[in-house]
Amino acid sequence: MPRVFSGIQPTGDPHIGNYFGAMRNYVRLGEEYGKNSIYCVVDLHAITNPAAYDPKTLAQRTFEMAVANFAAGLDPEKVVFFVQSQVPEHQELSWVFTALTPVGELERMTQYKDKAEQLESIPAGLLMYPVLMAADILLYKADTVPVGEDQTQHIELTRALARKFNHAYGETFPEPKAVYARDALRIPGVDGQGKMSKSKGESSTIGILEPLDSIWQKLRVAPTDPARVRRSDPGDPDKCLIGDYHKLFSDLPTIETVYEGCRTAGIGCVDCKKMLMQGITRELTPLQERAEGLRANPDWVRDALATGARQAREIARPVMEEVREKAGF
Ligand code: ADP
Ligand code: NA
Repeated sequence: MPRVFSGIQPTGDPHIGNYFGAMRNYVRLGEEYGKNSIYCVVDLHAITNPAAYDPKTLAQRTFEMAVANFAAGLDPEKVVFFVQSQVPEHQELSWVFTALTPVGELERMTQYKDKAEQLESIPAGLLMYPVLMAADILLYKADTVPVGEDQTQHIELTRALARKFNHAYGETFPEPKAVYARDALRIPGVDGQGKMSKSKGESSTIGILEPLDSIWQKLRVAPTDPARVRRSDPGDPDKCLIGDYHKLFSDLPTIETVYEGCRTAGIGCVDCKKMLMQGITRELTPLQERAEGLRANPDWVRDALATGARQAREIARPVMEEVREKAGF
């Protein structure tokens, strides 16, 4: 049976990269796959990066990440949505895969290298992160994984582990494929320093639940095409992150107006940013209002997650039993 799985870390406030790159696809695929679409707040992943983990705030961040997904349109009646640590089989399967994974392959993962580079002492969990991710996906025998482009290498490893397990212990797992949001493969950070990411901190992100005036303060100082020094210089909107964001938030006539206006110096960067802010306001206001309603009803959120965990475990348990039997324990 075709099945979808994806996870999102509660390492910080969800941002427009998460939203357009992943969360909107959760909702879309949920319409198609129903209870065979399984989504997870991966709190056990979040603890592998000491720079982004604080035990005092983890539970609150997990709650907020759930709220954000519900506010973005995920319906817990239609899909399976839960918190990773509530389904212990993720860790159990992860250990089985650990035994099948060469350390060298993990050391070559670019996300690992980027994060490890900034740390004095590297936790083994950071190295093992992609193994746990493979377990997350394969525990549900998922074949479709909606993610951003940054996860390509991890999905490749998941496929390799599925093949390895099948070869060693008999046909068990499908080889899952990544599916990407075509227009949001890798959304740049608002600070102009590469990919937008929670783990880089708030200077890089535009949060989907962030107050609109705070978003505007970031946009106001965001870098634009560096070749456009004076207001009268023409610019290249394809080399500008504001141009990238317009494609996510603005309607077609607005996109045409600002792209043409930038190329001809017809409009300045501040006006272009103001027009972007209108699109952001239109998209995020209803979402933020729904989030407020959910925060006022925390029991509903927790109940939905507990139900999700029970549904996930019903799928996970027999798969884990099959694994135990095939692996000889
Ligand atoms: P982050 O890198 O911000 O900590 P996660 O690791 O929790 O985010 O990833 C959650 C999902 O969001 C993943 O599918 C990831 O590929 C996607 N994603 C993260 N950042 C971006 C981005 N800048 N553009 C597109 N997709 C992204
Ligand atoms: Na990431």
